[in-house]
Amino acid sequence: MTKVTVIGAGHVGEIVAFGLAQREIVNEVLLLDIVEDMPQGKALDMFESTPISSSDTKIWGSNDFSQMKDSDIVVVAAGVPRKPGMDRMDLLKVNVSICKSVVGNIKEHAPNAMIIYVANPVDVLTYSAMHLSGFSKNKVFGMAGILDTARYRSFIAMEANVSTKDIRAMVLGGHGDSMVPLPRYTTIGGIPLSEFLSQEKIDAIVNRTRKGGGEIVNLLKTGSAYYAPGLAVAEMVEAIVRDQKRVLPVVAYLDNHYGFSDVYAGVPVILGKNGVEKIIEIELNDDERKAYTESISHVKQGVEEVKTLL
Ligand code: NAI
Ligand code: 2OP
Repeated sequence: MTKVTVIGAGHVGEIVAFGLAQREIVNEVLLLDIVEDMPQGKALDMFESTPISSSDTKIWGSNDFSQMKDSDIVVVAAGVPRKPGMDRMDLLKVNVSICKSVVGNIKEHAPNAMIIYVANPVDVLTYSAMHLSGFSKNKVFGMAGILDTARYRSFIAMEANVSTKDIRAMVLGGHGDSMVPLPRYTTIGGIPLSEFLSQEKIDAIVNRTRKGGGEIVNLLKTGSAYYAPGLAVAEMVEAIVRDQKRVLPVVAYLDNHYGFSDVYAGVPVILGKNGVEKIIEIELNDDERKAYTESISHVKQGVEEVKTLL
């Protein structure tokens, strides 16, 4: 019996819930939101799709946070999304206050749950959630790298004219414009990326990946991406509930990893039933390390700001 609660039944939250139900990853999904009747309506619509998709996942909605009791995993997609012209850090103040209220509810009603944080700025808010919950650090982590890597893989597939399935890659660092795609660790069907694309094309893909969130914001105009983010979270949930020991980029707590401590950022981890079971430290060359250090320094700045709000 696995129960997942998704707090924030907006665009991202609903796709997380739908992805989990469609693929029958868990037994029960609860959608929670402060907007009256909305999570109930979305969840009912999704449940009514399960006879068509032949899924036995029970999915329901509520405005009552006590209903999250006995959840194994709580996904936090409650937050204000980035609007055009808005930096992720602009979101900090409002989303920290939401984080306080949400984490207070998790502590009270689901004290044994793992927390997957999604709302932005995700690295900094995951730090806040860890601090506010007091839960062990392997049980509080965030989603960003799977999304950023999926974008990177998509752009490579478009440019090299190959299947996205065969592209293995990692995007590390903070979830911002200074994130660190790693072409040196990218392969297509096991063959190095450099065999398929020129350095100029790879550089353009790296740049587009870094700005991938903004590209969608500028096109949508009224909000940010949700299909790829929602399914990225569902992939993390699946890795945990099926104890798959997946090697995935996750926003994890660094404690003397990659030369950093007391900060959350994207690193390759082994994700299984105990959450973040291991952080994998790969060798970075001088340029990669410089880019990673720059990215983490932006997150560190956010962590210092958030400490004044906690
Ligand atoms: P949205 O506006 O569609 O949904 C947010 C939902 O949160 C709304 O339904 C709102 O009523 C709810 N909410 C607000 N305060 C709440 C509270 N205290 N308790 C419960 N629910 C509350 O926004 P969307 O597009 O779903 O994005 C959600 C967050 O996820 C944003 O912060 C966005 O920036 C972030 N995001 C992060 C990604 C990542 O890679 N980490 C990717 C995509 C989005
Ligand atoms: C994204 O990258 C907004 O963080 C969100 O799409």
